[in-house]
Amino acid sequence: MDLIYRPRRLRGNDVLRKMVREVRVDKSSLIYPMFVREGDNIKEEIPSMPGQYRYSVDCMEEKLAELYGAGVRAVMLFGIPEDKDEMGSGAYAEDGIVQKAFEKARQVCPDLYLIGDVCMCEYTSHGHCGVLCGQEVDNDRTLELLAKTALSQVQAGADMVAPSDMMDGRVAAIRRALDGNGYVNVPIMSYAVKFASSFYGPFREAAGSAPAFGSRKSYQMDYHNRREAWREALLDVEEGADIVMVKPAMAYGDLIREVKERVNVPVAAYSVSGEYAMVKAAAQAGFVNEEQIMCEMAVSAYRAGADIYISYFAQELAKCMDAGLIG
Ligand code: PBG
Repeated sequence: MDLIYRPRRLRGNDVLRKMVREVRVDKSSLIYPMFVREGDNIKEEIPSMPGQYRYSVDCMEEKLAELYGAGVRAVMLFGIPEDKDEMGSGAYAEDGIVQKAFEKARQVCPDLYLIGDVCMCEYTSHGHCGVLCGQEVDNDRTLELLAKTALSQVQAGADMVAPSDMMDGRVAAIRRALDGNGYVNVPIMSYAVKFASSFYGPFREAAGSAPAFGSRKSYQMDYHNRREAWREALLDVEEGADIVMVKPAMAYGDLIREVKERVNVPVAAYSVSGEYAMVKAAAQAGFVNEEQIMCEMAVSAYRAGADIYISYFAQELAKCMDAGLIG
């Protein structure tokens, strides 16, 4: 056969395959999301997320050390309070659960990079991501509380804040609050392109944060939309976001790519709880190979354009990178 081009030539040998690899991944870009709750001596497994736990503050240390040892250098903390109220006051309380967790993590694992998820839904009795006015989430009143929440997390030891509420103008409001208190160098990673997604189901079970009525569709994005994703990302960059995120990851590779091409800040992709739960369930049923699927999903996000990958599999991914399964 007189063939000039034979793409298979570059696939014939493992050394060569790795040499010509287009996307390379690195442990330094991984972020692990972790749940912390009130109480003592608690490490309870989240039923829909086998292998993931809610930790009381006194039980965080072992996990943090394990992550650090595996080469995962950044953790994003989610707080689960004992009591919730209309105003989500636990989100910005000085002795709130996540604030206590930051203090502890800072103390026991000082080199770990700590990120705070900034939102109201784990702390409000109605489960919405802001304060209500009737049945509606009041955007502008919520901004004040989000800014307070972000500031309190930074004061407790967070290195970076990540607003996930999807209120308009929250990046600017948080930037103002941080700058006004001297935290000009604390970065904001905005959940800029966050869809109203059923992939968050297991997270809401883990955090007890499902909305008591209605849905999050009046603030999180409609998944039919592409150009709106660019708009959200660009608006957040204009407001001062240092990093923008696309979430979920797996079903949104197109938008990771398109956002990447339109912004000049790093792009993060969040592989959410439902993605993790599906892989775990399918693997436990013996239908897929967990490790291979997890690696393939991660690389696909990087290939789509993610600079940062947030995943409940972060520690396992770090191990796969060490073993040369991906890299
Ligand atoms: C808080 C928040 C959610 C997630 C991250 N931050 C839940 C939601 O928006 O309902 C989801 C993460 C996941 O599913 O892993 N607003």
